[in-house]
Amino acid sequence: MASCFVTRALTGGAVDRLAQAHEVDIWPDRTPPPAEELRRRAASADALLTMLTDRVDAALLDGAPSLRAIANYAVGTDNVDLQAATARGIPVGNTPDVLTETTADLAWALLMAGARRLGEAERAVRAGEWPSWQPGAFLGTDVHGATLGIVGYGRIGQAMARRASGFGMQVLHTREKSLGEILRRADFVSLHTPLTPDTRGLIGAREVALMQPHAVLVNTARGEVVDTAALVDALQAGRIGGAALDVTDPEPLPADHPLLSAAGVTVVPHIGSASTRTRAAMADMAVDNLLAALAGERMPHVANPEVYG
Ligand code: DGY
Repeated sequence: MASCFVTRALTGGAVDRLAQAHEVDIWPDRTPPPAEELRRRAASADALLTMLTDRVDAALLDGAPSLRAIANYAVGTDNVDLQAATARGIPVGNTPDVLTETTADLAWALLMAGARRLGEAERAVRAGEWPSWQPGAFLGTDVHGATLGIVGYGRIGQAMARRASGFGMQVLHTREKSLGEILRRADFVSLHTPLTPDTRGLIGAREVALMQPHAVLVNTARGEVVDTAALVDALQAGRIGGAALDVTDPEPLPADHPLLSAAGVTVVPHIGSASTRTRAAMADMAVDNLLAALAGERMPHVANPEVYG
């Protein structure tokens, strides 16, 4: 029986399956275990089931001599030092595919919200700042027939393209066009790249300056793909039309962060994969990854396949 540390309670019955086979310790709080606590629990664990909010670095792995499996409850694995895990022979699992359509749904909702200023309009109604129907209030951008730029044309990027075809949009994506051309031509720019050293800060001041003045930036990838200061500057100066963000840097944003008071901004709390069914499917995948690795088998979804030689 192995000892598993699960860094947050998960929905669905997956963790019960893990607990039938192994000893399971679940972090009980709504917020992540502090780094020191994560290190302390990892030190005696055989397996970790981690969230994207848990930093698993070489120092943590060095202090966890019995660790033989990590299952990350996300498709992204930028919170885990994959190279360090591979060097120590530890497979790292992730949860691809099951969240593709759910995340694209949310990206689409954000695109629509950004286009039609839903956040701002809804806040105005709640605040009693909508005296009457007005011909010129809350004017947005048409989505139908517009041009969508997709940065990162993997599973979720392609799922966005499928949605765009229903709206008669022209789609430009980074498998066929340069980032510069996409930024210059798109009415909506949607980010779907994983966070890597190459994509960190991919959308900075120079890139934002290429966007059209009415264009809306949608980010459901990782906050760090965008240079937040450059985005705030552009929004405050009215150089782009808006931003609709599921992810931010920092995350979460402090309540007084300038991004939250910039015009044309919609921010939601990293809920791309947050449907009941998808989160349960992610939990199942993460648990399947751990059960396989603890049984000495290959993880069904492994982010560092080179660990198996
Ligand atoms: C992921 O899986 O990487 C998302 O950001 C959370 O579901």
